[in-house]
Order: sequence, then structure tokens, then C-alpha cells
Amino acid sequence: MQQNTKKTIITSALPYSEAMPHLGNFVGSILPADVFHRYEELAGRDSIFICGSDQHGTPIEIRALKEGVSAEHLADSVHERMKKVFESFECSFTHYGKTNSESNKKAVYEIFEALDKNGYIKEVESVMPYCNIDKRFLTDRYIEGKCPYCGFEGARGDQCDNCGRLLSPQDLIDPYCGLCHNKDIEFKKTVNLAIELDKLQPEILDFVKMRMGAWSRNAANKTVSYLEQGLEPREITREMKWGFPVPRKGFEDKVFYVWFDAVIGYIGISMEWSEKWKDYWKGPDTELIQFMGKDNIEFHTMMWPGILIGSGLGFVLPHTIYAYEYLTAKGLKFSKSRGVGLNMENALEITGPDYWRFALMYLAPESSDNDFTIALFVEVVNKIMNDKIGNYVHRVLTLLKNSGLKASELVEDEKSTDKVAMLTRKYAEDFEALKMREALRELVAIADVGNETISSSRPWELIGKDGVKLGGEDRAKEFLGGMVSIVRRMGVLMWPFAPDASSKILKRFGISEPRLSDLKKPLKELNLEGLEPVFSKLSDKQLKDLERFEEDS
Ligand code: 2FM
Ligand code: ZN
Repeated sequence: MQQNTKKTIITSALPYSEAMPHLGNFVGSILPADVFHRYEELAGRDSIFICGSDQHGTPIEIRALKEGVSAEHLADSVHERMKKVFESFECSFTHYGKTNSESNKKAVYEIFEALDKNGYIKEVESVMPYCNIDKRFLTDRYIEGKCPYCGFEGARGDQCDNCGRLLSPQDLIDPYCGLCHNKDIEFKKTVNLAIELDKLQPEILDFVKMRMGAWSRNAANKTVSYLEQGLEPREITREMKWGFPVPRKGFEDKVFYVWFDAVIGYIGISMEWSEKWKDYWKGPDTELIQFMGKDNIEFHTMMWPGILIGSGLGFVLPHTIYAYEYLTAKGLKFSKSRGVGLNMENALEITGPDYWRFALMYLAPESSDNDFTIALFVEVVNKIMNDKIGNYVHRVLTLLKNSGLKASELVEDEKSTDKVAMLTRKYAEDFEALKMREALRELVAIADVGNETISSSRPWELIGKDGVKLGGEDRAKEFLGGMVSIVRRMGVLMWPFAPDASSKILKRFGISEPRLSDLKKPLKELNLEGLEPVFSKLSDKQLKDLERFEEDS
């Protein structure tokens, strides 16, 4: 028999270990990647989920300077906190690593040397802004000004946050120092190393043409428009101390650019995970599926494939690039950079991970920006999670317990099965198309079918507190058979979205590692001890806690 070699690598953009991410960051990349990874496991596929902290870069260096600690100390302490909070949010990483690691350094040097050997690295002389007040080069973000493309006033030296275009400091109109806000800036000559994306353009173009059908629309559209304008060499080194030193004579005072070692970080982190990393990254039949926010598109659709192709080292190229729009929170303090607001740690102090995961995915900004409000959150928790799903599960299991019937005696009820089977098929199709928000809605529709069947079957006339009423046994077996298998189905299908509630339900069915194939198995005895609802409504205290994060405006 031929062995199935198909493998999947799922990645989420690596969050900067600069400050605790907020919920918008979480739903913009890590959460959907995790939900998808859990689905791949449900489907019984061989997949790994790789993520980690992005530790280099100017913001971390500058913040460390201000706080009087080393950049490494700052980056590692935030990394530990982030790792912990993602675990508390039930993220199912195969490995959560960091970019400032020995394994990543090894990957960066190996890939850099291969690029160099293959003739894709060149020295470029550039003129860099230098702040005469702070006496330092102003890399990337530390020079600000007006964006030449969209006119946005707070554009940074590497990218405009408004239109997403990558920029060079010289592109900015009326630049000023991002540290001291003075305009006493001089442009000084310096030499950096660049990857020759212009030389790689034909191969990048072939790759994009072949793959872009599987990408989110925003990723495909942006990439096509950038390629039409033509790629240029892109610098991969920087005048700063925090980062991996550049192993070339004359570049001792420079380090690799944060984005160079961040994208390579996907490989470096996998190398730290296990010897098995090669089976995935160099496997003959691997799909690399990458989730990110829309501001990360250009790095992943051009620079990253350029690095991989140019290295000639045989790494898999991205199969799917899925970029999320933004989940905004008008009226809520949701800002990471200001260091205030509803970050992931605060969120967990208010309520458990299932509630956030479910509500965030229900409102996920899949095809357009979306706004997150307290009112919407309350509606999803109270009306959908509690009223539709939690109540359904609790009612059915209580009826089963009261009936005194054994699960193995139950018979599947024909009435609801067709619709439920159709919704389950749609759930899987949605996942295959990465429409996870839709998949969650199919799950809610399954709960609707269950609730409607309860209302129309009036089981309270059939099953009392101390058993099935006389003559009702066959009907009760049929009714409960259908309803209990829907409970198991909801437990399985909920696993990507609300893993705690899913585990609580499935434990009763003796399932610890859920698979879609569990849905086809006959029902076995259930453990019905200590029944209690799997979800609850938000309490007044929780609402008060949430309101603390409302803007005072
Ligand atoms: O935008 C960000 O948060 C970056 N730290 C994402 C890096 S993704 C990858 F390349 F590592
Ligand atoms: Zn300055």
C-alpha cells in the first residue's frame, strides 16, 4: 500500500514581542490559524502549527533603551508572557518559538549564504536618515512623515499604516525623528546588503501566477499590483545593534533586518521543534498555509518566496496566503501601541478563552474590516453560545439522564439527520475554503435544527423526571437518538472554536482526541454525572469589567 505523504504546515504571522497583543491582533492571524489547525486534526491530517515571537527590530531596541534594560531581556520577558497567554487561549501550536534563537540564527546564516552564493545579494549604497539630536540612524519606524502615496501624516520609514505600502525613509514627505520629533535630520551615506528581488522577479511571478488562486482576495490583488510596478532590490541589513550580526567583512556594525529573520523564523522555529522539520519543509507533498494580517502581505507574497526560491535549498513555497482584514473596535480601547486597552491578558481576566475565541471567530474580519463592540460580544455569548448551544446540550443530556435509557439503546431519528448531514458537509467545505466564520455559522445552524426539533417534539410530554412515560419508550429512543448524536456532533465540530466546552461535552462520550470520523460511530454509554451547562451568560460583574475598557469619549 502506498503511504500517504501529504503534510500541512500551518503558520501564523509571528507577533512582535514588544507588547501584549490585543484581541484584534489575535483574531487577525493566530486565532484563525489555530482554528484551522484544529480542523486539520479533526480531519485526521498530518499537520504542524508553527508560530513564535518576532523579537528583533527597532521598536524593541528603542523601548529597551528607554526602560534601561537589554533588548534581549525585554524581548524574552514579553515572549514568555505571550507564550503563556496563547496557551491560556488554548492555542494548539506544535511549537511556539522565538526568532532570537540559535536555530533561527543557523537558518538565517545558511539561507543568506545560499542567496549570496547564487548571486542574489548585492551591496547597495544608501543614504540613511540620521538624527542629529539623538545621534543615531533612524531606521524603519523611527522616522516618520507624510506618505507619498496616500498622504497619511503618520507614515513610518518602512511602511505606511494607512495604505500598507512599503516605504523607504527618503520617500517620506516632511520627515521628522520619531524619537524626539525634531526635524534636525541629516541623510548620511551607508552601505547595506540587499536581496535582488528584481533578478528574482520572473520566478516570483511564475510562483504567484500558479498559486494565487488559493489566496485571499486582498493578498492576490495587492501582489498583482506590486508586481506590475516591478520589484526592486530590498535591503536586508540595518544600522543597529539588536539582531543577528551580518557575517561579512565591513558589516560588523550592522545586523540583519527584522523582516529577513522573521520570515526565515518559520523555518528556524520548526528546526527548534524537532528533527522532523525537514520532512515538512522539504517534503515532496507539503502544503504551506500561512495566515497573517493584511499589512503583512507584501513580505509574504514577494520577499519571502524570493528568499526561498533564491536560496535554491528546496524549501516548500507557500501554497495558501490568507490575509485578514482588521477587526477594529471603535469605542473600545483596543490599541497595542499605546499600551492601554483590552489586551489578551485583560480579556482572560474577564471571561474564559472559549467565549473570546467563539465570539471573535463569529465576527472575524474575513473579507472586510469589521467592528467589535461590547454589545455584539454580549449578543454572541448570551444569545448564541448560551441560549442556542449551551441550553440545547444541557436539555438533551438532562432528558437522557431522566429517561433512564442507555445510549446504546437509542435509534437515530430520521427527521433531522438529512439537514444536519448537509450542514456538516457545508462546515467541512467552508473549512477547506478557509471560510471559518461560515463554518461556525453552520455549527450554530445545527444547534437551531436541534432546538426546533425539541420544540416540535415536546419531549416533556414523553420523559418525566423519573423516566419515560408509559408507552412512550420507542418514541423516546428515537427522539433521544437524534438529539444525543447532535450533541456529540456539536462537541466535535466545536472543537476548533471552543475547545474547553467541546472537551467537556466529548468527555461524556469518552472522546479525548476528536475526529470527524467519530460522527459515524454508534453511540456508546455516556457519563452523565454532574451535568451542568457548558456556557453561561455574562454576569453583571463581567459586564462592568468589560465597560472599564470603553472609551470615555
Ligand atoms: O506584523 C507583525 O506583527 C510582524 N511581527 C509579523 C512577522 S510575520 C513573519 F514574517 F514572521
Ligand atoms: Zn531625534
